[in-house]
Amino acid sequence: MNDMSFTSRRNPVTAADPVNMPQAALHEIAPMRSRTVVLSGTPGMAEMVARGLRRDENIDASHRVVPLARFAERPGMSLTDIDLIVFEIRVGNDADMAALRYLREMTQDRVQFLGVTGEPISLATAKALMDAGVSDVIPLTNVQPTRDHSADLVAMTAEAERIAQTRALPTQTGQGDQTRDGLILAACGAAGGIGTTSFALSLATLLARPAKPVRRRGAKPAMPRVAVVDLDFQNGVMGAAIDVADNGAYLDFLRTRTVPTAALVRQGMVRHEATGVDVLAAPVTLAPLDAMTAPMVAGLIDELRLAYDFVVLDLPRALVDWVDPILARADRFFILGDPAVHTVRQMRRMIDLYTDDHAGLPVELVISKQKMSRGAGVKEAESFLGRKFDLWLPRDDRAATRARDHGQPIALARPKSPTVRALVPLVESLCAQQAQANRRRA
Ligand SMILES: Nc1ncnc2c1ncn2[C@@H]1O[C@H](COP(=O)(O)OP(=O)(O)OP(=O)(O)O)[C@@H](O)[C@H]1O
Ligand SMILES: [Mg+2]
Repeated sequence: MNDMSFTSRRNPVTAADPVNMPQAALHEIAPMRSRTVVLSGTPGMAEMVARGLRRDENIDASHRVVPLARFAERPGMSLTDIDLIVFEIRVGNDADMAALRYLREMTQDRVQFLGVTGEPISLATAKALMDAGVSDVIPLTNVQPTRDHSADLVAMTAEAERIAQTRALPTQTGQGDQTRDGLILAACGAAGGIGTTSFALSLATLLARPAKPVRRRGAKPAMPRVAVVDLDFQNGVMGAAIDVADNGAYLDFLRTRTVPTAALVRQGMVRHEATGVDVLAAPVTLAPLDAMTAPMVAGLIDELRLAYDFVVLDLPRALVDWVDPILARADRFFILGDPAVHTVRQMRRMIDLYTDDHAGLPVELVISKQKMSRGAGVKEAESFLGRKFDLWLPRDDRAATRARDHGQPIALARPKSPTVRALVPLVESLCAQQAQANRRRA
């Protein structure tokens, strides 16, 4: 790893305390009642942020629907009655950076500047802003009012974020903005090389197929939206296994340690055309497992859940301190293993550990890469575990080799493989669970 910023953990945009941080930052900058102007060219955003800031009695906030550069150009512009300028960061906008330098020079450091961003920004951008005189960079979510303030504010917030995101990022998925409430499916191996990543990819592939056969001619089948996320980012083989390149967003996310937004999710997911699955592939650059934190993974899952019908998570085998939000959110939690004594012991340890604080965790035990034979070893294993295995994925070396050679999930490379056929009842049960959840929501 040659990126010093990664190891030094400099953290200009972290949201360690999402609720209180902005106010604290503002007090530090301007302890008296600060006369504040919020600037943003995004309709709704400046007003929303100003209204959020006005909840603090120490802030007297107004807003203008113009970006920083246009504000600085206004004829006769005066800043004599302003202490603080909060502006929307437009990444890579040179005019804004020039305006920032001009305004700072003009006010001779009397006025403070605060950048607000609706999308994760890189350390380099944050540093450039701070070098240009910005006191702090704050995620948009930290300066918006809490949800119970009023319905119109919530709508405005959502609209401002939506506009900011669509403007900042082209849609990669090409799918509609409809909100989902996806099932969270986590998979974790009790032994190395047991087939966890292959399972996650094949499961995602099968789930992404059209829900029901189409009867009417010309009618489009309902295509479930499926995401698969490589949380085993230290091994990072998922992308390579199916020829999906990491596009840099994941590494940025880990580097900046920002709580993810919908924008990050849209930016980071890469469509695997052959299956229709959106993939968050681990970065090529090695990242330490503690680069992830519990709030980050919680935010990531929550955003994915809203955007997809199924979210498949490939977990690292190592015990990480950010597993808790996954356990709290998983609708199904698969532990893959085999009947070997050490693997079964490890499965047992994992069940005990993970269900300790999450008694209701829906754990499912999967035998993977094993010949179909319920010999004495399996019975012993089940008696040690105190429960039966839920699923058996037979070993199929030819299918696995073909999948590797073609850079495809086994379910695509050899759909008729016994390994794939064994997944069908699980897929059906997940589709039924999702349909039921949708009906309840409707
Ligand atoms: N059902 C199967 N039959 C035969 N080989 C399989 C099967 N499933 C996966 N494999 C092969 O086993 C190897 C390990 O698979 P995979 O990477 O999915 O395991 P893993 O548990 O994710 O590994 P790691 O512990 O490194 O994350 C791969 O070469 C894969 O092709
Ligand atoms: Mg793996």
